[in-house]
Amino acid sequence: MEQGDRNMTQGAIEAGNRSFLRVFAGESLSVPPIWMMRQAGRYLPEYRKIRADAGSFLDLCYSPELASEVTLQPIRRYGFDAAIVFADILLVPDGLGQTVGFVEGEGPVLDAIAGRDDFSRLNKTGLHSCLAPVYETIARTRAALPSGVALIGFCGAPWTVATYMIGGRGSPDQKIARLAAYERSSWVIGLMDLLVDASAEYLCAQVEAGADALQIFDTWAGSLPKAEFDRWCMAPTAKLVSRVREKYPDVPIIGFPKGCGSSYQEFVAATGVSGVSFDSSVDMEWVAARFGGETVVQGNLDPLAVVGGGDALDDAVDRIMAAMAGKRFVFNLGHGLVPETPPDNVARVVERVRSGR
Ligand code: CP3
Repeated sequence: MEQGDRNMTQGAIEAGNRSFLRVFAGESLSVPPIWMMRQAGRYLPEYRKIRADAGSFLDLCYSPELASEVTLQPIRRYGFDAAIVFADILLVPDGLGQTVGFVEGEGPVLDAIAGRDDFSRLNKTGLHSCLAPVYETIARTRAALPSGVALIGFCGAPWTVATYMIGGRGSPDQKIARLAAYERSSWVIGLMDLLVDASAEYLCAQVEAGADALQIFDTWAGSLPKAEFDRWCMAPTAKLVSRVREKYPDVPIIGFPKGCGSSYQEFVAATGVSGVSFDSSVDMEWVAARFGGETVVQGNLDPLAVVGGGDALDDAVDRIMAAMAGKRFVFNLGHGLVPETPPDNVARVVERVRSGR
């Protein structure tokens, strides 16, 4: 048996109790399931090795063999209770015909959609042939994972994906897309409708391929005032959730409207998500008083606490665990792991959560 297989088996023993799906089926567990956003990524030496050999970041996303391997890496190393398929939210614009690239040290660069003419060039014709490798990654990963470990599929929420499509890149404030939204142009509305439609098909195809649960990442939800949040985040996400539920009524769907503050409650009520992921700014005692009964709570350790490590990290983990005791809860971060994270600090979090403190 190779070292990797042995680690996988050990992880499976600890994690092999379907704890993630049990929480979504109604249980609260004294040792909650744990996984971390961006658990596959540059902080792991084994990821960097595959990434260096794969060619571009998109080549890695579209290689079922390599994408499945990097999806499994953090499961082997830490025995997480859920894996998340290795892909990116910007594969959907790629599938709709927009030019998408990832520039080393800079992040995503897209051929910006700046008006009706650009928008009119997008369509769903090539969507599933473009995304077929992701479906194959899911099938392969599901076959390789221990049965007790859940596999999560995902997409970006229409608003967050639109901010990159309209802005052409990431920025500190996604100002270009926010301004376009205020203009209420018909092409922006058309773009959102297209994203709801394409994302619904994409998520359904991921379930079909073997995903056990889904997460919708709305990283830029917190950039909008309430009325704009209702229009561009909540309403499209509600449509997306109901489209998936028409076909898969029972699949757990987790919403992540990052930074939406006092709108979390209304978001859950309006979208009907099965679970909601909280960013690190939200106090888990506030959360515990309102969620974790009917709706599963996920979150919300600060990714930088994991970089810092030490007593401050232990204290942060303990506070979240204490607040969420007795609730339907999945331990996670408030946003993704960052590249400078020491891998041992991730292990420290997993151990602390599993020690039941
Ligand atoms: O969580 C996981 O382990 C699954 C993989 C995953 C990636 N991206 C891989 C990735 C997931 C769930 C995403 C989602 C994603 N992608 C979001 C939503 C969540 C969030 O982080 O806010 C967004 C906004 C993107 C768009 C994106 N992709 C950006 C802005 C960047 C560059 C910045 C960065 O963090 O590197 C990416 C690239 C990207 N996506 C990397 C990874 C591992 C790094 C690329 C590399 O390895 O060279």
